[in-house]
Amino acid sequence: MTISVVVKPSSWRWNGAQAVSFHAKAEHGCVLQAVLTLLETLEEEESILVEAFIPTAHMVQPRSVPPPTTLAIRICAVVCRSRKDQPLLSKVVCGVGRADKPLKHQATVPQTLETSLRQWGLKDETQIAAIYMQIKQKAEAAMKAFMDMEAGLSAEQRGGHRAQTDIIGVDFLLSSEEQVLQLVALEMNSQLCLETCSIFESMGRVVGSPLGEVACPLVETMLRRAQCHLMEGKHVLVIGAGGVSKKFVWEAARDYGLKIHLVESDPNHFASQLVQTFIHYDTTDHKRDEEHAQHLLGLVQERGLHLDGCLSYWDDCMVLTALMCEGLGLRCSSPTAMRVAKQKSRTHLHLLRRRKEGARWPSAALYAVPCCHLESHADVERAASHINFPGVMKLEYGAGAVGVKLVEDAQQCHLHFDKISRDLQDDSDHPGIGLGWGNAMLLMEYVSGTEHDVDLVIYEGRMLGAFVSDNGPTRVPNFTETAACMPTCLPPDREAQLIRAAYQCCLGCGLTDGVFNVELKLTAAGPKLIEINPRMGGFYLRDWIQEIYGADIMLASVMVACGVAPILPARSRPRTHLVGVMCLVSQHLQALKSTASLEALQALHERGVIRLNLLDDELVSSEYEEPYCNVACASSSRQEACLKLLGICQVLGIDSLHYPVTHFLSHFK
Ligand SMILES: Nc1ncnc2c1ncn2[C@@H]1O[C@H](COP(=O)(O)OP(=O)(O)O)[C@@H](O)[C@H]1O
Ligand SMILES: [Mg+2]
Repeated sequence: MTISVVVKPSSWRWNGAQAVSFHAKAEHGCVLQAVLTLLETLEEEESILVEAFIPTAHMVQPRSVPPPTTLAIRICAVVCRSRKDQPLLSKVVCGVGRADKPLKHQATVPQTLETSLRQWGLKDETQIAAIYMQIKQKAEAAMKAFMDMEAGLSAEQRGGHRAQTDIIGVDFLLSSEEQVLQLVALEMNSQLCLETCSIFESMGRVVGSPLGEVACPLVETMLRRAQCHLMEGKHVLVIGAGGVSKKFVWEAARDYGLKIHLVESDPNHFASQLVQTFIHYDTTDHKRDEEHAQHLLGLVQERGLHLDGCLSYWDDCMVLTALMCEGLGLRCSSPTAMRVAKQKSRTHLHLLRRRKEGARWPSAALYAVPCCHLESHADVERAASHINFPGVMKLEYGAGAVGVKLVEDAQQCHLHFDKISRDLQDDSDHPGIGLGWGNAMLLMEYVSGTEHDVDLVIYEGRMLGAFVSDNGPTRVPNFTETAACMPTCLPPDREAQLIRAAYQCCLGCGLTDGVFNVELKLTAAGPKLIEINPRMGGFYLRDWIQEIYGADIMLASVMVACGVAPILPARSRPRTHLVGVMCLVSQHLQALKSTASLEALQALHERGVIRLNLLDDELVSSEYEEPYCNVACASSSRQEACLKLLGICQVLGIDSLHYPVTHFLSHFK
């Protein structure tokens, strides 16, 4: 008998019921009988499908093998809704059974696609990989079609407010047309494929196969949605609006449904228009943070604000934020911890003192670097006799590498001390780099090695997430950042050393709650601390971490501040590699006015050619400059991302003799 007709009921109620039947075309009576029997049992909105039977393709078997009973392979694919509503294939397994009977999920023992195809006679690896890619494409397209359809439905039609399909199973058969293998989708279901894949995973446990792959993207999606739901409508006091580089915060806050009450010194700050309430209050003189906190607490009370959290993304405002949290009884690291972290030499000396405690091994003191606080030429003289040269001189409360300089001897130290004392006196000389605390400096021993950032999420002293990125060689003698890449190029043991060091340094300073950006260098003898920024990482970091790992450290900061422990996606599988370079007005003014104009860069960003992070909005060059923007390229391989970026930089005129991008990317191997 040649089967050619299939009769099957539709709707989820029939899942797993033995209701599908196969028939020969000539057997009209049987087909009719099958349909009538089903019709009797149908409920509202259910239906019956009579369709053509799709035969499994025949493989030519070697002659010596006795002809097998014809077998069919059923391919089960699970697709989850992942970040930004992207469908993502999470697992494929197969079931093999007789071709002349409906192949039930429950009637087969699941096995891999590869095993099934090999058994069936397909030996070529590239062909197997190609079939997998086809399954991925088609299954994801099926999910996409489903999501598009749902997007057009009302909340009621979808099943309620925020109801949506986050996971589907798609079943395929391998058929052939004119000798070409063809994947044919048989049905979409809500749970049979998921169950099959779960059985497969639990069977694999005894032989050490990976666990949890099927549901991982689904669970991540559920957790992301649940956390957004928890944060929606929270009232958050934000201290300090920061600059253009923090513009995304206000847009993201609106998308999350946060109610932001912003305290800011500049009454005309652009963010004043983007928040729930704007509180103008001048905080620039940070030596009076205690006083500011008292005033602000009064203002909060006057306005009757009921706050769920209080935080800042701006380096200068971290101590004030901690004081406010203390006054409001909200979660944050202590003001003392923030002060220790904020002042660079104090951080190191504090960690060095912890050597004696010795309870935790290795001690956080291992990561500290000898340094001296400088307020006068006498301090400089004393420091120069204590510290081994070369050294690095920098502002105690500085940021953005402004005023940082490599020094070779005492004389250079005196000269640089003079220069900074003259050029950078208070906040108005260079807003936002900590001059509101004064312009004291420090001399620190130079640490050689590669430079890295570790962005940490810490809650009640527990590390909930850590993201490592690499920096290229800085421009000497001023140490401005040039290139970066993420995920790190380091082998896992080195990456682990950095994460451990960053975490211990934070805990060592008392930073128990918050999102922190720790800068370290990795020397031949392990990690050494450069500085701790007791806030979310700056520049492109939030954007990149979100793109690569699906974790939003901006939201994580809000969650910690509101006393909700964030759950971040397992960081195992990076989605892409990003490599970027900084553009500087001093180096790229010509390009930024022509080939790499803001419009041109934005257009390239829109087209997905580059990933642009704008850090400033003025094309003015100054001696103590900070980067204007970061231009990055993404690829599934780091090497390819580097090549793409280099090409772009050459075309745009970012690469030059004085700004050798090849050199800046040379560490990323
Ligand atoms: N002790 C040091 N050894 C080597 N390089 C250093 C040292 N201190 C600072 N640097 C370099 O200078 C850069 C800026 O210094 P940092 O302390 O991070 O100041 P800022 O707060 O301005 O970012 C660092 O990223 C690093 O490249
Ligand atoms: Mg720094």
